[in-house]
Amino acid sequence: MTRTGAEESAENQSVNVSSSNGNGRKQDGEVGQRAERESAPAIPVLSDKVVNVASVPQRSPLRYPGGKTWLVPEIRKFLKRLDHRPEVFVEPFAGGGIASLTAVMDDYVDRAVLCEKDPYVSNLWRCMLDDAEELARRVECFAATPENVRAVIADAEVSDMDAAFRTLLWNRISRGGIMAKGASIMKQGENGRGISSRWYADTLAARIRTIGSYAARLDFFEGDGMSLIELCKDRHSAAFFIDPPYTAAGKRAGKRLYTYNEIDHEALFERMSNVQGVFMMTYDETPDVIEMARRRGLHLAKVPMKSTHHAIMYELLITSHELTP
Ligand SMILES: C[S@@+](CC[C@H](N)C(=O)[O-])C[C@H]1O[C@@H](n2cnc3c(N)ncnc32)[C@H](O)[C@@H]1O
Repeated sequence: MTRTGAEESAENQSVNVSSSNGNGRKQDGEVGQRAERESAPAIPVLSDKVVNVASVPQRSPLRYPGGKTWLVPEIRKFLKRLDHRPEVFVEPFAGGGIASLTAVMDDYVDRAVLCEKDPYVSNLWRCMLDDAEELARRVECFAATPENVRAVIADAEVSDMDAAFRTLLWNRISRGGIMAKGASIMKQGENGRGISSRWYADTLAARIRTIGSYAARLDFFEGDGMSLIELCKDRHSAAFFIDPPYTAAGKRAGKRLYTYNEIDHEALFERMSNVQGVFMMTYDETPDVIEMARRRGLHLAKVPMKSTHHAIMYELLITSHELTP
């Protein structure tokens, strides 16, 4: 079953809201660094238009804070323009996994490997891939009344499938899709429609079943994405998509959005600059990120996105090779 226009616009709005949550700008005031930046080449802007998210298929059942559905057109372009078909797509910081789902479902790769550190999100991925039908049926059978929601959230988890359902429910109805400690459940929802504005049972069940039908091509690991990069670093024919939680340079948004948010970004950049395959990393546009990339001779580009308040902001893409508009 396809979604209504209202569902699309509600979810798309959440994508923009979530993305902008992690994107506050911070200026650093050091004169020397500023002078260096001013003499540095401008970062090319890949598009003058913000992606219309309604035109992008929403394939993940998760409403992920900092989710990259809006970046799908650039991910597709990145994969389409490669001079070879990658053997494997590697997504070490999976979250809602939209990049891997796109790479496999649009058939740019035969196989994707996803990794996630959060045990609840990981359990959900495992259950979706192991028994999508069971999870989809639970979604369809659930009457999303406030009482039932409270009961599921309060219930002690008894099985992995129960926990997976609970994670999905919590993700859909929490403010901004945030599942980290301290996140609250939304009360009014879109247009005062409450929980039902985020719990589209048929749509979610369909997404879960579709993911299940691709299970043979999606490998999921719970653990540290840095280890997955290390494991795949010598694969010439791997394509990496790197979307880490960003908490560098005093930016704390990532702390609020994700339970697991501590990444050694220097180490990540170092590791990526040594992989044999191609890659796309996505970050907030901040001086320290630009500096980490430039120091290693990596390629930079920017793409526009819309904030909650419809302001145009830019996301930084750091890649193994030059991207063109
Ligand atoms: C920015 S989000 C990814 C969003 C994803 N690209 C999407 O579109 O849904 C970063 C994710 O990395 C996870 N994470 C944090 N530290 C990690 C680590 N060391 N290894 C693997 N995953 C980690 C977080 O739990 C979070 O789900």
